[in-house]
Formats: sequence, structure tokens, C-alpha cells
Amino acid sequence: LSHDLRTPLTSLAGFAESLEKTHPSLSHEQAEIAEAIHSQAMRMNSLVNNLLEMARLQSGDVKLTRDWHSIEEVIGSALKSRENILSGHQIKITLHDDFPLLEFDATLIERVFCNLFENAAKYTPKGSRIRIDAQISGNDARISVSDNGHGLAKGSEEAVFEKFTRGEKESATPGVGLGLAICKAVVEAHRGKIWAENLEAGGARFTFTLPLPAVRPPLLCRVTGVVPRLAESVAPVISPPLDATV
Ligand SMILES: Nc1ncnc2c1ncn2[C@@H]1O[C@H](COP(=O)(O)OP(=O)(O)O)[C@@H](O)[C@H]1O
Ligand SMILES: [Mg+2]
Repeated sequence: LSHDLRTPLTSLAGFAESLEKTHPSLSHEQAEIAEAIHSQAMRMNSLVNNLLEMARLQSGDVKLTRDWHSIEEVIGSALKSRENILSGHQIKITLHDDFPLLEFDATLIERVFCNLFENAAKYTPKGSRIRIDAQISGNDARISVSDNGHGLAKGSEEAVFEKFTRGEKESATPGVGLGLAICKAVVEAHRGKIWAENLEAGGARFTFTLPLPAVRPPLLCRVTGVVPRLAESVAPVISPPLDATV
């Protein structure tokens, strides 16, 4: 079923992209239409992915494919795959050089980041700043994605994680209210927690924890230089912690 739903959307996006690149080049108006088809197909693709993922997570038999991963690498792939919607936003990653490898299902945790990045881009004005911080707190790795947008409606900090729950103002913004429910299901399957809060300075912060493994990762696994190359617009600035500016 997932194949039947995904394939036509992927082709649609691919065809629209080829159309944008045809020679002689399209008129301005035609190019805009081709781009609109492309971006709507990509959007539909992301909705379908979320619906399928939620169905799978709810079926109760999610088998985590746990392995040792660098969180930096997963953040990098998520940024890369959401490059389009993140362009125009400033991204800043604060992650200590010797942040340990963690044991998790990389595909699922990447989806958590993708959903949080999508929201941070979707619910904030263009040019807004998105911050990703990772630190160790007690027996947990604590990872947060914050933005400097308008923040969450007062009192909705827990409800936003429920299935099909959307902000009242969001009817004009595409979405079905599954992004955060998926994040919660994935994080809880890893025995972590996820919560949301509004920042005093404005904007929302989503934080999730992943328990630190009881055993140390095999030393040979340490991967270096892992953030894939990104377009200039979303190139992350990796800086040492302590720098508190958003
Ligand atoms: N970064 C954010 N800033 C403000 N509101 C947000 C943010 N992220 C999520 N929300 C609110 O939480 C709701 C639920 O988010 P989500 O589960 O991802 O569903 P969707 O994005 O499809 O609406 C959104 O409709 C929005 O009202
Ligand atoms: Mg969302």
C-alpha cells in the first residue's frame, strides 16, 4: 500500500522538476506553475509519509532498528532533506565535539527532526532563526529545536502532541496535525520524553530526550565530518555550547 501511495507522488514531483528545467526555458508564468506542482507534490508526499508512519507506529509492532549513530549525522540528513522549506531560515546547531554516539533507530529519529524542522519553518515568519541544541543531562541526551516565531497558543503545549490536533489559526497552513504525534510515538518507543514550551524571548522550543546507553559504544564507531554538505542557506553553524544567542 505504501508503495502505491508514494510512487505516483514521487513521479509527479520528478516530472514537475524536469518540466522546470526544459529547454527552451518556460515562460515566467509556466515556470511558476511547474514549481507549484512540484512543491505541492512534495507536500503531499510528506503528508502521506506521516499518515503511513502513524499507521505503522500505531499498529503496535514497531521494531526499532537500533544502532549506534552520531546525532550530528542524523541532524545533517534531516536538514538536507528539508533543504527546500528551510531555505531562508537561519539554522544554528550547538553540539559539543565529543557528544557521545547514541543507540537509536536513525530513520525514525530523522523523521522526528524533519517534523520539528518543518514546523519551525512553517509556523514562523521567513528569515526566522532555528536552533538545534544537544546536551547531556543526567542519564539522558537532551535535544531541542527552538525557533523565534510566535510560539504555541497558550495552554496548548500538551495538546499539540495529540493526533490530528492543530492550532486554531493553522487552517490556512497545510498539515493534518500528525507531525508531533509521530514525534511523540517515536521518542516514547525509544523510552524518551518529548515536550513543548514557549520561550520567554518569543518562539517555541521542542525538547526530547533519549536515554544514554548503559554500555559505551564501540570506540571504532566514532564517525567524523558527518554533516553532509548543505546549500548555503541552510548550512549549519556548529559552535561549542555556552553561546546562548538564538
Ligand atoms: N514551531 C511551532 N511554532 C508554533 N506553533 C507550532 C510549532 N510547531 C507546532 N505548532 C502547533 O502545533 C500544531 C500541531 O503540529 P503538528 O502535529 O506538526 O501538525 P501540523 O503541522 O500538521 O499542524 C500545529 O498545527 C501548530 O498549531
Ligand atoms: Mg507539522
